Amino acid sequence: MNPIESYLRRHHRRFVKELCEYLRFPSVSADERYRKGTAICARWLVEHCRKIGLEAELCRTDGNPIVLARTPRRRNSRPLPHYLVYGHYDVQPPEPLDLWQSPPFQPRIVGRSVFARGASDNKGQHFAHLKAIEAYLGTRTALPCEITFVIEGEEEVGSPSLAGFLRKHRARLACEAVVISDTTLYSLQHPAVSYALRGLCTLEITLHGPSRDLHSGSFGGSVDNPGMALCQLLAQLRDGHGRLTIPGFYDDVAPLSPFERAHFDLHPFDAEQYRRSLGVRRLFGERGFTPIEQRSARPTLDINGLTSGYQGSGSKTIIPATATAKLTMRLVPHQNPKQILAAAIQHLRRLCPPTVRMKITSGHSSEPYLVSPEGELVQAGREALRSSFGAEPLLVREGGSIPIVNEFKRVLKADSLLLGLALPDDGAHSPNEKFNLDVFAKGMAMSANLWPVLARTQSPRNNVRQPKDQKGKP
Ligand code: BES
Ligand code: MN
Repeated sequence: MNPIESYLRRHHRRFVKELCEYLRFPSVSADERYRKGTAICARWLVEHCRKIGLEAELCRTDGNPIVLARTPRRRNSRPLPHYLVYGHYDVQPPEPLDLWQSPPFQPRIVGRSVFARGASDNKGQHFAHLKAIEAYLGTRTALPCEITFVIEGEEEVGSPSLAGFLRKHRARLACEAVVISDTTLYSLQHPAVSYALRGLCTLEITLHGPSRDLHSGSFGGSVDNPGMALCQLLAQLRDGHGRLTIPGFYDDVAPLSPFERAHFDLHPFDAEQYRRSLGVRRLFGERGFTPIEQRSARPTLDINGLTSGYQGSGSKTIIPATATAKLTMRLVPHQNPKQILAAAIQHLRRLCPPTVRMKITSGHSSEPYLVSPEGELVQAGREALRSSFGAEPLLVREGGSIPIVNEFKRVLKADSLLLGLALPDDGAHSPNEKFNLDVFAKGMAMSANLWPVLARTQSPRNNVRQPKDQKGKP
């Protein structure tokens, strides 16, 4: 056993304790009421990074602060390749609270899992990388590269501050690649590299009918009901085969390559077990595609929230004044969020009946992401996973979104290597979210293995790195 492996093993219990400490902060980015808890969490993280030997700072933004932590710079040494590790310390809202078996911000260990909001998405996952670097520093093992952790507090709300931050600090953040653990693996026996992410468009539609809720007996039949109108409108957005009706929606969708389709057949995926695990009567998706393809490589439209009229107990005989739907679309390469949003809005306006007034607001959006599954970055990730998990890593497209990856590409010209440590049943965004401690251990080993592999396959981009700092030098 090498010194790093032995360090990781010796300190495992302390790492779990520290992770639990980290999980106690209610760093919910979507809800103003948690703003203070979020700020305290960021400060704790900075302190923790310093404690393990990183040079860490808290960077203010218009929103939640960004934690920047880098490996100590060596003087007069030859330039080493530089990598970013990206993660997010913000978490989704914990509601509905009554479905949690223990309070979301009081971590509880049961068997080999720690239960808490943010355990898997994403605190546990980037914590594994921090601990791997701690092992290098703690054993005075030379790192073959420089590493900067960029851990933000607004991922779950679309990363509104980070893009500007990247532009402002592009010189010091210039890097060979970005390493991210914020996706899924199938199981301990089936680790995975994700080479694609879906993009996202968010919008909210409100239909306005009468100027106030009306008695449905006195007026019903003579005025349109916004709730009914909204349902009819939404129902027209897809056909009976799961295909969306928005004109042009599929025009730019990259078809799956035979290589990808063949590779997906290797996934340990059992549709019947999948169906049962989700509690649905039948699976449903776009005709002509497998469930794996439907949920990762095909675009979708979902109703995330639907509200109109009386929500209390019993009945209330009204025609509601308004009806609202919150919608998202998941996009795949090479769909463009702006174009898709425009096409969707135009389609909705065309479908809107003249009896109601439609108001549409659009929220954050992010582009889909794709790197070559056969490229050297993905291969390096597979090698690190193979040696730490002792199993052949799969290539997957991830159905979820990590909005900032395209900004890493645009601003820093860096690709992202997605090495997920979340299990399919970790319950990200759900009640009773958990993180598996065996995956945690494998994840730390994977991170420890990764840096020599990456540094071997990628030489530093000296000319690209820190253009400002080069000025005036011979
Ligand atoms: N970790 C997820 C991304 C993800 C989702 C990976 C599902 C694997 C499976 C990330 O934290 C996330 O939840 N992203 C949001 C982005 C949105 C709120 C802008 C998402 O995908 O909904
Ligand atoms: Mn998330």
